[in-house]
Amino acid sequence: MIFVLGATGKVGRALVPALLDAGAAVRALTRDPAKARIDPRAEVVQGDLDTADLPALLDGADRVFVLTQGHSTERETAVAQAAAHAGVTHLVKLSTTGVYFGQTDPITRAHAEAEQAIREAGPAWTILRPGAFMDNRFAWLGSIRDENAVYVPEGDPASALVHVRDIAAVATLALTTSGHEGATYELTGGEALTTAQQVAILADAIGRPVEFVEEPETAARERMVRRFGWPAEAVDGFFALKRESAEREHVVFDTVERVLGRPPLTFAKWARENAAAFTYHYGG
Ligand SMILES: NC(=O)c1ccc[n+]([C@@H]2O[C@H](COP(=O)([O-])OP(=O)(O)OC[C@H]3O[C@@H](n4cnc5c(N)ncnc54)[C@H](OP(=O)(O)O)[C@@H]3O)[C@@H](O)[C@H]2O)c1
Repeated sequence: MIFVLGATGKVGRALVPALLDAGAAVRALTRDPAKARIDPRAEVVQGDLDTADLPALLDGADRVFVLTQGHSTERETAVAQAAAHAGVTHLVKLSTTGVYFGQTDPITRAHAEAEQAIREAGPAWTILRPGAFMDNRFAWLGSIRDENAVYVPEGDPASALVHVRDIAAVATLALTTSGHEGATYELTGGEALTTAQQVAILADAIGRPVEFVEEPETAARERMVRRFGWPAEAVDGFFALKRESAEREHVVFDTVERVLGRPPLTFAKWARENAAAFTYHYGG
């Protein structure tokens, strides 16, 4: 049985059905099963990683997908050590390309430390290091729906955005087939697109022009606090990561194609899949 942390997150939502389709038995963790909408073929377990009885959650698990929100090395170390005690044979950790590039922002540092804890815990391991997700562009939902516009901080870099289904597909192979033990995979899409190009692709999928507005970082910070309710600390962490990753977000790795034997999914495909969500509300 494969135990999936973050089962209701962007990657987890794609991973759980992919594992089930591959024939695996899946135990999915959520803090709130009533809201979780997890694939009914999975066993759903309730738990908060800050307080959970890890040995009980891990009982009977052979492999674990390790993803924690909040970038807590402590949580991942605790999971890795409890998994080793529970007889888990393989840990697959979701990290970030920032570790490959040696970034020193707090989010990347926490991932680097957690990677080390996973490698040292005892079970076999595979580290997945995705770059920025296409799903991050859901942050544009509100302004596209309300104002038919996208606001980005000035100097936003071109980015080789990766589709979460590609991350999930690689994770599925690592968790259900052999040959991925001890591997570290950097995962990106197949092409770097500027934000202006991304907006044009999305506008094409939606079927109407969308205004593209670059704004100073101070205005972008204010927008994140106002629109998304992010705490100031989270906004600082985000911009610290962005400053460091800006020079490298365009870098394309061929890992998805090498591991999956097919090209990565494109942003145009992501835009078509999600166009309906972006059109809702706008009356202009
Ligand atoms: N976004 C990017 O571009 C990007 C790029 C590279 C790497 N990453 C990494 O990807 C990870 C985030 O993945 P994601 O975007 O899939 O996350 P997400 O969509 O934000 O989902 C977070 C998941 O964590 C679970 N969770 C949160 N707090 C928890 C707790 N205390 N106990 C148990 N479960 C908890 C949530 O489950 P419930 O709410 O159901 O409990 C949810 O399933 C981060 O480590 C991030 O650094 C992101």
